[in-house]
Amino acid sequence: MLTGSQINEVFALIRRAGGIVTEASAGLKHIKDKAGTANYVTEYDVSVQAYLIDGLKKIVPSARFLAEENDVCTDDFDKGSVFVIDPIDGTANFISDFGHSAISIGYCENGRPVFGAVYNPYRDELFSAVKGCGAMLNGNEIHVSSRDTEHALILFGSVPYYKEKYCHSLFSYLADIYPRVSDVRRMGSAALDLCYVACGRGDAFFEYRLSPWDYCAGGLIAEEAGAVISDMDGNDLHQPDATSVICASAHETYDLLMGLYEKYR
Ligand code: IPD
Ligand code: CA
Ligand code: CA
Repeated sequence: MLTGSQINEVFALIRRAGGIVTEASAGLKHIKDKAGTANYVTEYDVSVQAYLIDGLKKIVPSARFLAEENDVCTDDFDKGSVFVIDPIDGTANFISDFGHSAISIGYCENGRPVFGAVYNPYRDELFSAVKGCGAMLNGNEIHVSSRDTEHALILFGSVPYYKEKYCHSLFSYLADIYPRVSDVRRMGSAALDLCYVACGRGDAFFEYRLSPWDYCAGGLIAEEAGAVISDMDGNDLHQPDATSVICASAHETYDLLMGLYEKYR
């Protein structure tokens, strides 16, 4: 596990990387398409990732990396120490100056996440968790909400890179959920969605298709804050193989969402 001083160094690094994101947001961004629909990368995704990897190598020289922007080493993921990085989660928000994107750093030992940090530089909010030690927001403990399902705010991801495959199922599923809860939200950053469930701003989150860098850190933070979490088949969020995520503050809400999903899988 990381020592306290290594964790503090990771916090300082992720905050400095946040500065790159906020300083960029007012300026012009060079945007390139990636595979799938509406999937973009900017020079900032690439430079923040390089900055993080460079800094993390100094903090944990033996660590390996699983990172979104072409720096993937999935082999032997279940052995040793691996940082799982999303340099900018919410790139579409970043491009459009929405002010709701985050940097996500998970840390796995022998395939299990043991530490996670998600930083939203626009609100200076640093969510973090250490396995077995609870979850924090800017150093203060956080917990999931105690709202019942009828009053729940459901966050979801619209699987933008796989529209054709999931569009019909997703929006039919949402139409089934919507009348049974308070409201639904599509925020644009899966890592922050998970953290928002962790701190009680939202009551559940799901997305049909995600990658480990989207959920590694946020998933641990939600779990440590008391959320029920799995993939959408109800299996453990086994990394790096899980491709969907569902998470809720209460079993009642989780069971409702999983039950309704039966019709749409
Ligand atoms: C995306 C965001 C978005 C989610 C997508 C993700 P990116 O990450 O988390 O909310 O709907 O599925 O891929 O591409 O901005 O890092
Ligand atoms: Ca992402
Ligand atoms: Ca990203």
